Amino acid sequence: MAIVYLNGEYMPEERAAVSPLDRGFIFGDGVYEVIPVYNGHLFRIAEHLRRLDDSLDGVRIPRPCDHGQWAAILHGLIERNGGGNQSLYLQVTRGVARRDHAFPMEVRPTVFAMSSPLLPLAEEIRRHGVAAVTLDDNRWENCHLKTIALLPNILLRQQALDAGGSEAILIRRGEVTEGAASNLFMVDKGRIVTPPKGPGLLPGITRDLIVELARKNDIPVREHAITPAQLAAADEIWLTSSTREIVPVTRLDGAAVGDGRPGALWKQMTQLFESYKSGYAEPDAGDPA
Ligand code: PDD
Repeated sequence: MAIVYLNGEYMPEERAAVSPLDRGFIFGDGVYEVIPVYNGHLFRIAEHLRRLDDSLDGVRIPRPCDHGQWAAILHGLIERNGGGNQSLYLQVTRGVARRDHAFPMEVRPTVFAMSSPLLPLAEEIRRHGVAAVTLDDNRWENCHLKTIALLPNILLRQQALDAGGSEAILIRRGEVTEGAASNLFMVDKGRIVTPPKGPGLLPGITRDLIVELARKNDIPVREHAITPAQLAAADEIWLTSSTREIVPVTRLDGAAVGDGRPGALWKQMTQLFESYKSGYAEPDAGDPA
């Protein structure tokens, strides 16, 4: 039975309930994190918690816990859900209050966390990659904050699915930003390129690790704006996230990306990522970074 955490207590998922007046439910007024767990260990936990603090500060929700307290809550959840590999979802909303757009006075943030299975990338995708479609990025101007108000992302993802793709690649003011729930990389003549961080995209933890691994291994990498024309001419395209790691895109808007197969640099980076992850294999391993 799945055990979740809600406001200080662990309980079976079926028992967890929040008020319909919670501002997360009424307004989408909250932030979240998705944190992978490998062999019972929180992956890049310091980075995830720093981003959570940035999101909380960015929407002016008081930080309910310090990093030590967050780690204790999450470790309790990992243990109660059997250790191993998991995907943790952590959400903080502004709390329960009578509906009013203005911030309520003296409200306690609602804290919720749950665990889902973390599955390896399907063999079919490793072999053949996925299709993606480009769409207009019509989200707000604070995409660097990881807020639960994901309706634009959901609509964009669904539009991509309806068009036969598995992810939407978003274009704003003539530049590629990211996917509906992923960051974007392309390979151009042996060099990896990803859009620079800023308010237009989420500073992905997976993204940052890939840039770090490329630099450590002398693979040329640039954080630079990408135009739709450059993307269309890319040798490889990847989408990255905590839940799916590095996904090769082999068709873009119906045309083959490069030779239409997952590329050599995707393979190399996937191997580097796997060997980085193996640092989390030891029973008492911390973050190897
Ligand atoms: N989403 N950009 C967006 C808009 C995202 O929603 C995500 C991840 C990413 C990748 O960030 P990271 O590498 O830190 O997971 C980029 C999560 C997985 C989700 O919403 O389920």
